[in-house]
Amino acid sequence: MKFELPSVELQTLISRQDLEARISELAAEIDRDFAETDPLICIGVLKGSVFFMVDLLKQVSIPVAVDFFQTASYGSGTTPGEVRIRKDIDLSIRGRDVLLIEDIVDTGYTLRTILDLFRFRGARTVKLCALLDKAEAREVEVPIDYCGFRIDNLFVVGYGLDLDERYRNLPFIGVVDGDVEEESA
Ligand code: IMP
Ligand code: MG
Repeated sequence: MKFELPSVELQTLISRQDLEARISELAAEIDRDFAETDPLICIGVLKGSVFFMVDLLKQVSIPVAVDFFQTASYGSGTTPGEVRIRKDIDLSIRGRDVLLIEDIVDTGYTLRTILDLFRFRGARTVKLCALLDKAEAREVEVPIDYCGFRIDNLFVVGYGLDLDERYRNLPFIGVVDGDVEEESA
C-alpha cells in the first residue's frame, strides 16, 4: 500500500495489523516473565517509544509503574556515541526490576548508555524491549530481550518514529522513498 503525504511518499513496511499482533505477543511474554514482579518499572525513551509503550502496556496485566527518560538527539557538534540526558526519570530504581521501552535500536549507543546508567544506579534487573531492531547498523552491542521486528538498514517513520518531528502519529511503520539523511532523526 502507498500512503501519500504532502512532501514524501511512504511505503508500508509494517502494517497496523502486524504491529498489533506482534505487540500482543510481546505483552504476553512480559506478563509471563514478570509474573512475580510488583511493580515492573517501565521506562519509555522519549519521544519515539510513546506510541508503542501505550499500546504495549495496555495489554500487560502485571502491576507496572511508568516513567520516561530522554536523551538529547544527535545534532551538529556532537560525535557519534555521545549521549546526553535531557530528561531523567523521577522514580527510584534501586533494587527494582526495570523494563526499558524503546522504538528502535540503531547504532545502539543510546540504549547502551541508558542500560549502563540504570545498572549503575542499582536496578536489580534491566531488560530492554524494542519495537524495531536495525541490527545491521549496530556499532555497540545491546541485548534486546523483547524485540518486535528486525528490519533492514532503512530509515523508517511512523508509530512514534519521526523525520524532523513529522509522521510520529502514523498508525503503521513506513519507509521514506529515496535517500534521507539519518541526522534528521
Ligand atoms: P541509536 O543510539 O543509534 O541506537 O539511536 C536510536 C535512536 O535514533 C532512536 O531512538 C531514534 O530516535 C533514532 N532513529 C534511529 N533510526 C531511526 C529511523 O529509521 N527512523 C527514525 N528514527 C530513528
Ligand atoms: Mg528514540
